[in-house]
Amino acid sequence: MVAGLTIVRGSDRRENIEKKATALDLLVQQGSFDVTRQHIVAGKYFFLDEASEWEGFEFIYVLSGELHETDDNILLRAGDYIYHHGLSARAHFQVEKDTDLLLISSPPSFHLMRDEIQEILQLVRSVEEKDEATEGHCHRLERLAIATGEKLNLNGDQLITLSYAAYLHDVGKVKVPDEILNKPGALSDEEWVEMRKHPEYGAQMLEDKEFLRDAAKVVYAHHERYDGSGYPRGLSGDDIPVEARIIAVVDAYDAMVSDRPYRKALSEKETIAELQKNSGSQFDPQVVRAFLRVIGGSTGGMNVA
Ligand SMILES: [Fe+2]
Ligand SMILES: [Fe+2]
Repeated sequence: MVAGLTIVRGSDRRENIEKKATALDLLVQQGSFDVTRQHIVAGKYFFLDEASEWEGFEFIYVLSGELHETDDNILLRAGDYIYHHGLSARAHFQVEKDTDLLLISSPPSFHLMRDEIQEILQLVRSVEEKDEATEGHCHRLERLAIATGEKLNLNGDQLITLSYAAYLHDVGKVKVPDEILNKPGALSDEEWVEMRKHPEYGAQMLEDKEFLRDAAKVVYAHHERYDGSGYPRGLSGDDIPVEARIIAVVDAYDAMVSDRPYRKALSEKETIAELQKNSGSQFDPQVVRAFLRVIGGSTGGMNVA
């Protein structure tokens, strides 16, 4: 081997990285540069943040897949690349097909991004472990919420907030005692008081992270009801963030079509009837309409795995 040359084979790490929805792999960190490979699955959104005073440099090369720069409506495919020395506004991307990116940035940003993503995934895992009824629920919710948000023409920032908030809506349940969370019978009044604290707990956990601050507000409001009869603040109508109004509908839908220890899943037809019945009271009618378009009114139901 020529002195000074390093060769790393990719076959070992490839499989590991491709299993995850969003995975980052630091390839080289040299001085003030990071070289990172990122795998992102179709349907995800991400953004490059505004940094007008930034001294750094970021280069992104599309290795495979397809992504859509939504602000200028540009489609990027394998071989395309983008770079910048700081942006005057946030740039938004939607991943159309599973995509692999090679990122080179200075100063290094990899550790920051990875720690934040890992921390979030860990939080969600801890809720799913604690609350047996919700396995896979967060992921399904995120997907359905985003599809509904698109139908309602939410902008890129709102869709990103919605994506985080949908995924993390019940993260506050990690602070609710297990005996309450998994109690087979009905909860007592005091137990309900504790259970109903989970939106507030969740918001507290998220709000000290800059990039989750908007999502924290949505998490705080995900059990509000359109007519003001929800909790914790009894907000109504447009005072409830639209992202939270979407999560309320999608959350109810997913709960109804899933088996629970105390009841069987409802059929698709019964679930739709239930959503329509509560449209205008519990749910925002506009959101219900958009959501029903997402699930397509198809008689066979949609695959929400
Ligand atoms: Fe909740
Ligand atoms: Fe939920």
